[in-house]
Amino acid sequence: MKIIFDCDPGHDDIFALCALLAHPELFDLLGCTTVAGNQTVEKVTDNLLRVLSYLHHKVDVSIGSPCSLDGRTFVQPVAHGESGMDGPKLPESNFSVTGLDAVEWIYQTIFDQSSPVTIVATGPLTNIANLLSHYPSIKSRIERIAIMGGSLYSGNITSQAEFNIYVDPLAAKIVFDSGIPITMSGLEVCHQAMILHSEIERFNTKGKASKLTYELLEFYSRFAKHLGQPGSPLFDLCPVVELLYPHLFTSVDLFVDVETQGELTCGKTVGDVRGWADKSKVNAKVLVDVDRQAFIDVFVENAGMLDKEG
Ligand code: RIB
Ligand code: CA
Repeated sequence: MKIIFDCDPGHDDIFALCALLAHPELFDLLGCTTVAGNQTVEKVTDNLLRVLSYLHHKVDVSIGSPCSLDGRTFVQPVAHGESGMDGPKLPESNFSVTGLDAVEWIYQTIFDQSSPVTIVATGPLTNIANLLSHYPSIKSRIERIAIMGGSLYSGNITSQAEFNIYVDPLAAKIVFDSGIPITMSGLEVCHQAMILHSEIERFNTKGKASKLTYELLEFYSRFAKHLGQPGSPLFDLCPVVELLYPHLFTSVDLFVDVETQGELTCGKTVGDVRGWADKSKVNAKVLVDVDRQAFIDVFVENAGMLDKEG
């Protein structure tokens, strides 16, 4: 499966990256693109390059949009810190970006492939929306877009909207309206895909990737501890583990639209959950539950596999 990973690292974006890197038998990671979200696009790009360099995985990295389609920027230091990936102290990266804009790089990369590409997107969907708007013909070469984003019932950044969609609802609407099959890991499944604070110790080993994951989790879990929650949702890991082991998940096929105007609901993904609704409009496989223990075991196993690379 050919993969392009669009992200805003972000602790949980890195967990998703490690899952992609740990399974070359399934994932042919063509490259990564970055988008402003958890932090500025400069900071999230630096975070991504540092991790790739630290793990000795050289893949293309191209910088994407510094803001939403309507020009807004919105960072999330509460959960991810000022750097966007507080916790581990990684050395400067030995790698550099491609020099191509993310949209151009994605277009050229997909165009050069002999088979369709799956896009995994774990940040705001600005880059993907720009790709589909500027190069509509590329849609036929995209197998699926697997996103972390949205929700069916309540939000996290507002009472109704999930962060990735909220940051760029216009972009999300372009993606959901595109006709490309979508797998949506929304808050319902992400809140089930939680690592308990007591389970973080499983990563406290000498392995390079496990130690990095442990240090990331140590900082990332502070937010949940502060809220008095028993663990931390591993949001961005969901779309990748679903591609790897779909049987661990429960999903429902729905028509999902995006509210772009509402005073109280802007950024809400609106899934038509009425069983008798028009099935011809279905555009998304919405994940709603996961076997949590198995999911955590995969998370631990991914790090262990990267540890073996030395
Ligand atoms: O709402 C969770 C999403 O917001 C995740 O992608 C996390 O990385 C943050 O970007
Ligand atoms: Ca993210």
